[in-house]
Amino acid sequence: MSINSDIKKITVPDIIARKGSSRKISALTAYDFLMAEMLDEAGIDIILVGDSAGMVVAGYSTTLPVSMEEMLYHTRIVGKAVKQALVVADMPFLSYQTSLEQGILNAGRFLKEAEAQAVKIEGGECYAMLVRRLVETGIPVMGHLGLLPQSVHKYGGYKLQGKEPEIAEKLLRDARILEESGVFSIVLEKIPVDLARKITQAVKVPTIGIGAGPACDGQILVSHDMLGIYDKFKPKFVRRYAELGREMRKAFRQYIKDVQTGHFPAAEESFD
Ligand code: KIV
Repeated sequence: MSINSDIKKITVPDIIARKGSSRKISALTAYDFLMAEMLDEAGIDIILVGDSAGMVVAGYSTTLPVSMEEMLYHTRIVGKAVKQALVVADMPFLSYQTSLEQGILNAGRFLKEAEAQAVKIEGGECYAMLVRRLVETGIPVMGHLGLLPQSVHKYGGYKLQGKEPEIAEKLLRDARILEESGVFSIVLEKIPVDLARKITQAVKVPTIGIGAGPACDGQILVSHDMLGIYDKFKPKFVRRYAELGREMRKAFRQYIKDVQTGHFPAAEESFD
């Protein structure tokens, strides 16, 4: 028997069962094999192959240019590395907004051609039918409400959502509709703590917060943000667990200096 057969893969029902649990759901993003393997070995519950890849890997200024092919590539290499965590693939801009058929075909590709177990889509009520059809097709869906990065131009920036009572009401209604449509969890991004608590109490599926305070059933961050690799801007809700960007720059500068001055390679790094 191989050692790996003892590893139990986390499933969609496992995540749903964590609703209200004192052991909150941990989630982070990954876009490549090594990072996914490290996260999986550390014991993360969910790995999101986020379309944030467009910003932190490809260098786009928003997530909007990210294509299906790019997301499939990232999901494939993450899926190959992961033995335990639930792998969720983010559906990129215009891969699900144009028609139900397009949405189902594109979502299905993440399960059929990559090794995702679920997809994530941004938005509420207007995607209820799509969520219903995806779930009927056997494609689990993670919802995403609050600040929707694919709508950045509509908001005019990455602004806090749900401060105004009518927007807060709409978000609460959207969460209930997504739940009725069959999502297995809902990401709540950059909304006030009290609204996130209200939504978390109102739905039976887990909420996973990013900038939504401590009342959610779980938390997610972009790995490159929490590692300090992506330091173009630092949202208030990001806690830096490392300063890898600073360390990497230091290492690169030292290497260049060592090469220029002949200090690398040394005898022990060379062959007789
Ligand atoms: O693309 C992403 O990384 C996301 C998270 C911010 C939730 O959607």
